[in-house]
Amino acid sequence: MKRLHLILALGTILFGCGTNQQTADTSGQETDSGLNEIHRPQFHFTPRAKWMNDPNGMVYHNGEYHLFYQHNPDSTVWGPMHWGHAVSKDMVHWEHLPIALYPDSLGTIFSGSAVVDIGNTSGLGSEENPAMVAIYTYHNAEAERAGRNDFQTQGLAFSLDNGRTWEKYKKNPVMENPGIRDFRDPKVSWYEAGKKWIMTLAVSDHISFYSSKNLLDWQHESDFGKGIGAHGGVWECPDLFKMPVEGTNQEKWVLLVSINPGGPNGGSATQYFVGEFDGKSFTLDKEFLADQNTSSTEPAEENKDGVWLDYGRDNYAGVTWANVPEQDGRRLFMGWMSNWDYANQVPTENWRSAMTIARTLTLENTAAGLRVASKPVKELQNIFDKKISLKDTTVTNELLLSEQFTTFDLKLSLEPVGQQTDFAIELSNDVNQKVLIGYDATKGQYYIDRTSSGANNFSENFAGIQYAPRISTATGFDLRLLVDVASVELFADGGKTAMTAIFFPDEKFTKVRLLTPNGRYKLTAGEIVNLKSIYDERVAKQ
Ligand code: FRU
Repeated sequence: MKRLHLILALGTILFGCGTNQQTADTSGQETDSGLNEIHRPQFHFTPRAKWMNDPNGMVYHNGEYHLFYQHNPDSTVWGPMHWGHAVSKDMVHWEHLPIALYPDSLGTIFSGSAVVDIGNTSGLGSEENPAMVAIYTYHNAEAERAGRNDFQTQGLAFSLDNGRTWEKYKKNPVMENPGIRDFRDPKVSWYEAGKKWIMTLAVSDHISFYSSKNLLDWQHESDFGKGIGAHGGVWECPDLFKMPVEGTNQEKWVLLVSINPGGPNGGSATQYFVGEFDGKSFTLDKEFLADQNTSSTEPAEENKDGVWLDYGRDNYAGVTWANVPEQDGRRLFMGWMSNWDYANQVPTENWRSAMTIARTLTLENTAAGLRVASKPVKELQNIFDKKISLKDTTVTNELLLSEQFTTFDLKLSLEPVGQQTDFAIELSNDVNQKVLIGYDATKGQYYIDRTSSGANNFSENFAGIQYAPRISTATGFDLRLLVDVASVELFADGGKTAMTAIFFPDEKFTKVRLLTPNGRYKLTAGEIVNLKSIYDERVAKQ
């Protein structure tokens, strides 16, 4: 603790601001707080201060990636929700902007999406200067306390100056609540084939699709999901988009659905479905969920396991960017790097929680059927620093890979010598704390073990081992790990299995070892690239 206080005091001197009392000033412009707290991620997006959860309104416009987020500017725990705001040219370096949306008489501002109304269908902008339109959920806490069920409605706000200032739509809400408690998180996208907008909305245990010609008047089209996939908790934060199937001329629709609790390793997680969408309804591919069960003949509707975008504990409520230019063509994703099981308790002092790295999603044919693979965006190279190439060698028992970096991008190709056996990459510090990211050959599963990773008594749900099925059937392993000071993201087998986990060591993890306790592996290729802090330039300018 002493060390932590020393660092905080140093932070106060360096950044010229108190570390504990930073909140939004009246202009909504916030200041940095605790930038160099020991657990402050160095290349992941974090709020300048106070509480953050879901990414919202992710939209690309005029050369900027916008990221809005669920934000409580007055506290480091969840509370009255606002939309915080930041922009980036590369999804790696972020410029914080003033709070975009404040609560009003209709409620606080829950999760939602943003689009650019290119054709000025809403009449809120013009064809020369199309409006950026945010569609979000109003949460009326007073109505909830009064015992009503219709306290969540959908509202709309627009900006004519690249998201710098916002006006709420005068006739809000644009969608009333039919009397359902969980009725939220609208994700709107343009459906070109029908020249209309589609809203994908989470409605307690299913998804409802609505359509609109003008973003203002919405009509119900269909429902999907009752009894299909995982239902261990309420459905939240959906997303619907079309994706090409890699290496084919085929296209499919992917429906993301976050769920809390009920994730594969407990608490919150994001499942997805692959199928068709015809402008009205989503139809699940028959074989999509069938393979998940022990008996592959079981109909999809009886599968309760779900297929998960990320099997780790800390990737929730993620959705994809709207309006990414066609020439770019990528499906770009970002999630909240925490879990409702303990998000309000994690041991950071001035701010709470980070986003995952921005990821490119692809849809691929695998041994398990069509699966969404995740990879860090290529713009991550903007913070590449010193690189160590790892020599082609055979590992018996253990190999020290590096002991100098705390934020890095590690790539390893491993071939078993003989049978596949257990292996792990161990991140450790000098006070005996460690995280293991490994493969359990008996189970055929990847895992992250953060049992001894440092602080974990803030919640009984935090410590433990989390598992993910291996989808690839290759004998060799292709692994990529992004390690920040308080998180690891595993992209295994070209991203077909992804796992994200956070941790809170008392001292930074500097040692990286490859452990092969019960067998031998040939390290056929590998490199470890130090990643620069996204704060370097800002610190240098102080
Ligand atoms: C998901 C969620 C959303 C809701 C928001 C409130 O994490 O519960 O369903 O809109 O957070 O902050």
